[in-house]
Amino acid sequence: MAVRLGDTAPDFEADTTEGHLSFHDWLGDSWGVLFSHPKDFTPVCTTELGTVARLKPEFDKRNVKVIGLSVDPIDSHAGWAKDIEETQGTALNFPLIGDSDRKVADLYDMIHPNANDTLTVRSVFIVGPDKKVKLTLTYPASTGRNFDELLRVIDSLQLTAKYKVATPADWKDGQDVIIGSAVTDDEAKELFPNGWTTIKPYLRVLPQPNK
Ligand code: BEZ
Repeated sequence: MAVRLGDTAPDFEADTTEGHLSFHDWLGDSWGVLFSHPKDFTPVCTTELGTVARLKPEFDKRNVKVIGLSVDPIDSHAGWAKDIEETQGTALNFPLIGDSDRKVADLYDMIHPNANDTLTVRSVFIVGPDKKVKLTLTYPASTGRNFDELLRVIDSLQLTAKYKVATPADWKDGQDVIIGSAVTDDEAKELFPNGWTTIKPYLRVLPQPNK
C-alpha cells in the first residue's frame, strides 16, 4: 500500500547505526526525513550519504531529523560508513536503518519490483511534527537526489504550515510568496495588513511574511 501525502507516516521499530529506535518516538516534536538507498558500497549512494552528512547542520537548523535506510544489515553499514568518511570528507552523523528483513521498505513501498525486485529505490518521505506525510519523492537508482531541493521544500512546508501562503515555482527562502487561493481578499486584509500585489485575482503576491 503506497504511503500518500496526508497519511500518518507508518510507525516502526528498527535497528540503526545509532541503536534500536521506534520511529515516532525518535522523531518526537521534530520534522523528519526518511530516505532509502538501493545498496551499501555503491557509488551514487556513497555520495548521497556524504552530502546529507555535510548538510546536517542545515537540517538541524530547521528542526529536522534525518534517517537513511538500506536493505543491507547494520554491520555492513558500519563498514561502509568508513568509506563514506574517507571519500566524502564527512562522517555519517545520522542513523542508517539496517532493513535486511525489508520490514520498513515494505511498510513504505520502497521496493518497486518493475525497477528492481530486491533493492529499494531512492524514496524520500518528509514527515511533519504531527507525524503526517508532507512530501514523497521517488528517484531511480541511477540518479542521485538533490538535497538542497529537500531543504528548499522544507522551508516551504514550514512557512506554509504557519501562514496561509503558497510558494511559487523555484521559490527560495526570502523570496515573494503567493496568497493561498482559499483566502478571500477580506481575509487577506486581516492576515496581511501591509498589503499585496494583485497580478490576477487568483495570483496575489506579497513579501514572505516572516522576513
Ligand atoms: C549506486 O548507488 O550507485 C547504485 C546503487 C544501486 C544500483 C545502481 C547504482
